[in-house]
Amino acid sequence: MKVLAISSSPRRDGNSWTLAEAAAKGAREAGHEVESVYLADFVRGLLRDCRTCRLSTGACGIDDGYERLLMDHVMPADGLIIATPLYWYGINGTLKTFFDRLFCYTAGSSPVGEQVSAALPGKRIAALIACEESYRGATLGVEAQLQEMTRYLRQSLVGVVVGVGNSRGEVESDPSRPLDRAADLGRRMFEISVTDYRLDTERSNRVWGSPDSTGSWSDSY
Ligand SMILES: Cc1cc2nc3c(=O)[nH]c(=O)nc-3n(C[C@H](O)[C@H](O)[C@H](O)COP(=O)(O)O)c2cc1C
Repeated sequence: MKVLAISSSPRRDGNSWTLAEAAAKGAREAGHEVESVYLADFVRGLLRDCRTCRLSTGACGIDDGYERLLMDHVMPADGLIIATPLYWYGINGTLKTFFDRLFCYTAGSSPVGEQVSAALPGKRIAALIACEESYRGATLGVEAQLQEMTRYLRQSLVGVVVGVGNSRGEVESDPSRPLDRAADLGRRMFEISVTDYRLDTERSNRVWGSPDSTGSWSDSY
């Protein structure tokens, strides 16, 4: 499988990058083809008013590397490792801009709208968050946003690893071993079972299977 690891922090050698590289290493160990990028190398301009900004062809008029990132790196990937520092209890601005500007490329007026909209669903997303505070609530907003964005894009959020650290690379000293957890997430990102049941979802009473795993939920719970 093809995996793209995106680090969205402006700090190149920071904690997000350290987490992203740990997950990338895990994915490589599992035999996947992994490429790593700094988001800031591609995304420079904020979303503007498309009505005044888009070119006469309907294409996005912001002249930076966004289109190259999307078409050449994001679209061909089967899975994305997305690392962000926690900024003001949210994802960082460059990553938010990456998502904001997807609008310009999935809009009906975009010459590549159909192509981009068809390429985004089905990807597996592994999220990594670097932050200073260990308080559980600090990252809940980011997890909820990523969950909703991936649901909207028909992607699977396969896991979220939070690493606590502040100075560059300090996440390595987090006793909860986020680098190991990130590597494990990267290693298993195409195997992780992501379920989202409804009341009427047909299923066995066991999650992981066993010789007697044929019982229905209702008669053996
Ligand atoms: C603008 C800014 C806002 C931040 N906001 C938070 C925050 O709300 N909560 C928190 O725990 N850490 C916050 N931090 C700390 C970073 O999340 C933390 O230092 C992180 O490890 C940085 O990751 P990086 O090395 O990849 O840039 C903030 C840092 C900056 C620069």
